Amino acid sequence: MQAQTTIDSSDKASQKAVETTMLSPRFYTTDFDAMDRLDMSPLRKEWDAMLAEYEGDNNHDHFQRTPEFAQEVAERFSQVSPAMRQEFLEFLISSLTSEFSGCILYNEIFKNVENPDIKQLMRYMARDESRHASFINQSLKDFGLGIDLGDLKRTKAYTYFKPKYIFYATYLSEKIGYARYITIHRQLEKNPDKRFHPIFKWFERWCNDEFRHGESFALIMRANPHLLRGGNVYWIRFFLLAVYATMYVRDHTRPMLHHEMGLESTSYDFAVFRITNEITKQVFPVSLDLDNPAFREGLARLFHIQTQMDAAKAQGGVLGTLRRAGWAVAGLSTFVRLYFLPVQRHELPAQIRMAPAW
Ligand SMILES: [Fe+2]
Ligand SMILES: [Fe+2]
Repeated sequence: MQAQTTIDSSDKASQKAVETTMLSPRFYTTDFDAMDRLDMSPLRKEWDAMLAEYEGDNNHDHFQRTPEFAQEVAERFSQVSPAMRQEFLEFLISSLTSEFSGCILYNEIFKNVENPDIKQLMRYMARDESRHASFINQSLKDFGLGIDLGDLKRTKAYTYFKPKYIFYATYLSEKIGYARYITIHRQLEKNPDKRFHPIFKWFERWCNDEFRHGESFALIMRANPHLLRGGNVYWIRFFLLAVYATMYVRDHTRPMLHHEMGLESTSYDFAVFRITNEITKQVFPVSLDLDNPAFREGLARLFHIQTQMDAAKAQGGVLGTLRRAGWAVAGLSTFVRLYFLPVQRHELPAQIRMAPAW
């Protein structure tokens, strides 16, 4: 599917980052007092070991461009088709928005809590996400499409989430972010001719930051086990499905990007889901059954519905609005059906921390 608006100026790139849709990354705010009350003492040893890793900061010199960077952009990226170029720019903008979303949220929590454990963690994670966002922004600036992050912070809408929803959603987005980056890295490591932009060379060490951010939320949830039991399991199922489905639909709107890397969107997404399912067993007592054919069919149907909704939106007028409403109902009922598919259940392991071994 083609990008709907051509991104050819900094203003359009910023508009894309600011817009709020079902699929675009959001900015969040939360209940800081509740964050302040979190008690990490049940996992003191693991927690302190993790903070020491952040303190060690093994990526402090990673997010700097090499002298060859610009040359590689000029030589290799200039060969991609205009449509592919647009998909890549959209990918950069949505990645930048989600990195910056983490940066803002972690920084706001840092500024608003007294709890020394949470304050320290948030400072480190905001540091990492700020590096990630700036690094992507440099690549947008190469095309004159740099986004004013201060402006984005002021103008984009914020969604309020209770702390527990922040934990489920952010834990998952950190871990799925790791799985996405490492899967791309492994593919391009095997097929260097498919590496059409030098930014991918940074993904391996980059995704270790995301992995560690996920570990931090895993410890927070395991130290507060009520978050992982009873009625909360229904919320975990909801967030698993919402995160997986959003990724699936979003990725399928950019098939060329994966094709250019020698990947195919559906198999790439399922490879990422499999890794994420393995990782999330450290904390979630349930995972989605990826081998259920109804799961695959439901995701494919959600993507179909999304393309129909986009077409109805482009059509406009009363008829377009009615068609869109009809497809929205179809989307909701497909989501509900997916939600009630049987899930896999497992015991939580005694050893919580995991290594990024994929
Ligand atoms: Fe990040
Ligand atoms: Fe992160």
